[in-house]
Amino acid sequence: MVTVFGLGFVGLTTALGFAHLGHKVYGVDVDEKRKNILRNGQIPFFEPYMEEVLNKHLNSNFIITDDVEEAIRNSEYVFYCVGTPYGEMGSADLTYLFSAIDTTVNAIKDDKFRVLVTKSTIPPATTAEKIYPYVKAKGKIADNIGVANNPEFLREGHCWKDFIEADRIILGCNDERSKEMLLDLYRDMNIPIKCVSHSTGEFIKYLSNTLLATLISYSNEMAQVADCIGGIEIAEAFKILHMDKRWNDCNMTSYAYPGCGYGGYCLPKDTSALYSQAKAKGFEPKILKNVIDTNDNISKTIAKKITNGLDRDKAVGVLGLSFKPGSDDVRDTPAAKIINAMVEDGYNNIYAYDPIAIKEFKEKYPDIIINYCESIDEVHDNSDVIAVVTAWEEFKKVKEFGNKKIIDCRYML
Ligand SMILES: NC(=O)c1ccc[n+]([C@@H]2O[C@H](COP(=O)([O-])OP(=O)(O)OC[C@H]3O[C@@H](n4cnc5c(N)ncnc54)[C@H](O)[C@@H]3O)[C@@H](O)[C@H]2O)c1
Repeated sequence: MVTVFGLGFVGLTTALGFAHLGHKVYGVDVDEKRKNILRNGQIPFFEPYMEEVLNKHLNSNFIITDDVEEAIRNSEYVFYCVGTPYGEMGSADLTYLFSAIDTTVNAIKDDKFRVLVTKSTIPPATTAEKIYPYVKAKGKIADNIGVANNPEFLREGHCWKDFIEADRIILGCNDERSKEMLLDLYRDMNIPIKCVSHSTGEFIKYLSNTLLATLISYSNEMAQVADCIGGIEIAEAFKILHMDKRWNDCNMTSYAYPGCGYGGYCLPKDTSALYSQAKAKGFEPKILKNVIDTNDNISKTIAKKITNGLDRDKAVGVLGLSFKPGSDDVRDTPAAKIINAMVEDGYNNIYAYDPIAIKEFKEKYPDIIINYCESIDEVHDNSDVIAVVTAWEEFKKVKEFGNKKIIDCRYML
């Protein structure tokens, strides 16, 4: 049996994934609203296919519980999928993780062996230097606790498929018993499994996210180089770059393409946390620093591009608020940074539309005062210039709406 702490994108997918494999899974979360939505068979965020899977397993293999003691008593595996947001000086905030570990350890009343597995993204050396010593310091009870990590690579909008058809499963372990138990748990999935050290497991996740962030910042810097030289068809140039056999048919091409900078929950905080961790260990990663700086500056550059030559009383249209198409996630979304930069520069008359993220955007950024619209049409009719900020497919038709100036910040039109 498995207990999963945190029922967000990663935790819900993990819980339902294990339930789908035939394991009995308890889901634990501290967010009452989120649990009520889930208990009603609904998904609290936009994620295709997930509602169907939830309703298949809810109250059979997957139980959302408030009785943590019962869940822990019955479980051999405890997975942590809680948030690890920005902490001090850009490091990862591990408060939620340690709180869930405390809840677990306090609920253990017997001497059954259990493995505590961190699926949340945590900087390399966190398990070895913080979690393992923390758990082992809990006294005799810790003799029957294994500590492991199992980083998650799913993409929002593809959570279910990315879990069920993962490219690889990484198990960061330092004891044979935990390793064997985790191999057993995942055995039926037929996915390559790599068993590595605690710190290697954590590092692999950051290797992946920082490379993706680097590709994005590199592409944005190259687009600026092309802009300043002039006469360069930027979108065409990048599309031709992708025709190289070494890129062709590769999903990574969407990262080697200019846009509004990386956003969302993972890449900004993870690049920042790895930079902070390396600095704390005495090494400053310069490439990573420039990747972060480029990303921090791109929203201001784009805001200037949108408002170039525009009087401050004119209206700006913004198409797209989520950090990427196919998602209603607005955490660290470039749209908020671009809008803020325009407002700071005196452009207060902003009209915005997104197919699914308006509600989330309003809730997350109550201080951003703009006019929310119900359609591309409405944005078009009210604005003097229109910026495409998220690459939703439906925004392609904005060109047909009239002859207003359009700034294609995603190079997609
Ligand atoms: N979202 C992604 O695409 C993605 C992909 C891979 C890895 N990750 C990593 O996985 C982790 C979770 O990300 P997410 O997007 O699922 O986050 P999320 O914000 O969607 O969900 C986190 C959940 O944890 C709950 N929680 C917080 N403290 C708790 C506690 N003490 N006990 C029980 N529940 C608690 C919150 O209420 C929330 O529902 C992060 O470390 C993230 O970096 C995310």
